[in-house]
Amino acid sequence: MFPLHCQTKDGIPFVIRECEESDAARAIQFVKQIGDESDFLTFSGSDFNVSVEEEAENFKKHKESPNQIFLLAETDTEMIGLMSLEASPKPRLRHQGEFGISVKKAYWGKSVGAQMIQSMIDWAKAGGIIRKINLLVRQDNVRAQGLYKKLGFEQEGLIRRDLFTKGQFYDAYFMGMLI
Ligand SMILES: CC(C)(COP(=O)(O)OP(=O)(O)OC[C@H]1O[C@@H](n2cnc3c(N)ncnc32)[C@H](O)[C@@H]1OP(=O)(O)O)[C@@H](O)C(=O)NCCC(=O)NCCS
Repeated sequence: MFPLHCQTKDGIPFVIRECEESDAARAIQFVKQIGDESDFLTFSGSDFNVSVEEEAENFKKHKESPNQIFLLAETDTEMIGLMSLEASPKPRLRHQGEFGISVKKAYWGKSVGAQMIQSMIDWAKAGGIIRKINLLVRQDNVRAQGLYKKLGFEQEGLIRRDLFTKGQFYDAYFMGMLI
């Protein structure tokens, strides 16, 4: 089903596709940038210290896995989004995956995130292994929660002191979707 040819709300064409080993260096640069653009992530740019080799191996493992996927979104000129769905190979756990997503700030609110998440949901449905998709979202990240609810995720619980950022603890909602 990938690559998927998409458009932002304001008509900019972009592609959603699986990350390849050769994307590793660009992806690291992207993650470092978006880590500094948002306090809602589990890392800042300087916290992210993965080597190109490690990232390439990570992408390879996801490509070979039937219940995990790493997706990127890119325009003709730049990477604009990155997301992963992580799952266990254990028989009792392999049906559930947890995703994380980041869109470049200049592209927020243009429906890139919605299209990336929907493509991951469609991929999971087609695969037939993943039957539950989970996520954690900081309690005050109302934009992301609005998007997740719009796509059909439901709030399942509150995780206390999930994140520690700039001297403060933050609670997070655990959200999920049965597929
Ligand atoms: C959260 C994130 C992935 C969303 O991606 P995006 O491309 O900006 O989102 P989209 O444009 O696809 O969707 C926007 C939707 O968010 C929701 N939304 C936006 N602002 C909102 C607000 N103030 N209150 C409630 N919902 C809001 C709406 O449902 C909106 O859909 P609509 O435009 O059709 O009304 C992106 O903003 C991002 O990377 N943020 C920083 C990192 C982050 O927070 N990651 C998620 C961690 S859990």
